[in-house]
Amino acid sequence: MKKTILLILAAAALFVGCGKKESDNGKLLIYAGLMEDHASMAAKEFEKETGIKTEFVRMSSGETLARVRAEKENMSASVWYGGPIDAFVAANEEGLIEPYKSPVSEEIPAKFKDANGVWTGIYVGYLGFVGNKSILEEKGMEMPKSWQDLLKPEYKGEIVTAHPGSSGTAYTMLSTVVQSMGEEKGMEYMQKLNGQIRQYTKSGTAPGRMVGLGEAGVGITFLHDAIKYRKEGYKDIIIAAPSEGTGFEIGGVAILKNGPDLENAKKFVDWALSKKAQEMGQTVGSYQFLTNKDAVPPQEAAEIKDTKLIDYDFEWAGLNRKRLIENFSQVTKTSAPKE
Ligand code: F6P
Repeated sequence: MKKTILLILAAAALFVGCGKKESDNGKLLIYAGLMEDHASMAAKEFEKETGIKTEFVRMSSGETLARVRAEKENMSASVWYGGPIDAFVAANEEGLIEPYKSPVSEEIPAKFKDANGVWTGIYVGYLGFVGNKSILEEKGMEMPKSWQDLLKPEYKGEIVTAHPGSSGTAYTMLSTVVQSMGEEKGMEYMQKLNGQIRQYTKSGTAPGRMVGLGEAGVGITFLHDAIKYRKEGYKDIIIAAPSEGTGFEIGGVAILKNGPDLENAKKFVDWALSKKAQEMGQTVGSYQFLTNKDAVPPQEAAEIKDTKLIDYDFEWAGLNRKRLIENFSQVTKTSAPKE
């Protein structure tokens, strides 16, 4: 009898032990700023490699910032993965980021990472214009080639862009215009541009899709997203970059302060910085340039590699984000769309 009880206890211990082993790898919730299909693939791959149960929520940059602000005392995600780092800089100012210098960040050049490990870059994207060839031809319009072109009367009501309050893409646009023209002239420009806008979308990728579908003639977006939509079948898509020079994003990864799964978050950051993880993006149509020095950039990015860039100041952009968006909303009398 005694022997049987011992055996049962041993078997039970083994069973509990096995169960424990599985859940020992724990879980991870990610707030993802890159495309939904990219985030989904990354979560699956990371889970497959590590056994860590990984889930994500896709949000635009400004939405993530608002969410982590609201969750400051009770953070539910542990990683912020993707989206322009301007918002990471702003979040760090509010004590929402846990700095982490991943050993793998040795493979990322200094210009693509924060010296204190607040954020580390995973990709780089250039801002530009997307046009629908058929619509432009039908209406007898040229593809705009400069920021100034966008103000021409023929584009009135033809342009879609996201709102800088919700979208990191659109905040890159606002900050690019202000950094290029100065704050006063930049805001005057945004006010004039507002008169040309058909619709402000919530996410920065939406304008590319809308233009591809023929719902608008011209959009402002990251060029790699327009290339993705063209490759996915929106054949009328054409692209251009502003001749004055354009702004760009460093898409980052960071750990959220007081997130529930710090150790797993570190493992995810290590993974996301690796050559292998970065190169996976192109398999689902993410065509940004990559930051890992050994990663091979997607061929699709080659057509925009000579784009004229401004000397975009990310730190300034992050620190002045709130004020610029407030001014923008005031001069345009708009607020970020809820849907
Ligand atoms: O490809 C997706 C992407 O354009 C990223 O390159 C970028 O970081 C992000 O989306 C910006 O999204 P949003 O403008 O919606 O914040």
